[in-house]
Amino acid sequence: MTERTLILVKPDGVQRGLTGEILRRVEAKGYRIAALQQLDASTEKLAKHYAEHEGKSFYQPLVDFMLSGPVVAAVLEGDRVIEGFRSLAGSTEPTTAAPGTIRGDLGRDWGEKVQKNLVHGSDSVESAEREIDIWFS
Ligand code: RTP
Ligand code: MG
Repeated sequence: MTERTLILVKPDGVQRGLTGEILRRVEAKGYRIAALQQLDASTEKLAKHYAEHEGKSFYQPLVDFMLSGPVVAAVLEGDRVIEGFRSLAGSTEPTTAAPGTIRGDLGRDWGEKVQKNLVHGSDSVESAEREIDIWFS
């Protein structure tokens, strides 16, 4: 079966009107958008999605940020898409993310307790299956 990943355009990306630009890059790379939905996150969904970060200093700011506006969730398909999307996204901190990446080209630091970095992408096959269940159940 073709590999799948779960991506999110985070509230900063939706608010800044960058959903189209981000999905354009995904499609231009050659990945297939298998499912797409704009929705408001909930504390329940976010508690599951970010369980690995519970207890960290940025956890509550991260949850508050993710509740600050709608997100766009998508399932992408393609060989090695998990790794490929994370490469398109760039590293976590937008200030130092490589130019050419989504975070490097479109993101910046805003001096807040959490990095507003436009997108999320699953980091493993197990995470992808778990996260697709959370956002498309
Ligand atoms: P993501 O899960 O969103 O694809 O991003 P990631 O793997 O690059 O980053 P991760 O370490 O999983 O952290 C999840 C999200 O938490 C926010 N964060 N802010 N010190 C900070 O300000 C900080 N550290 C993490 C970011 O929004 C990051 O994407
Ligand atoms: Mg992560």
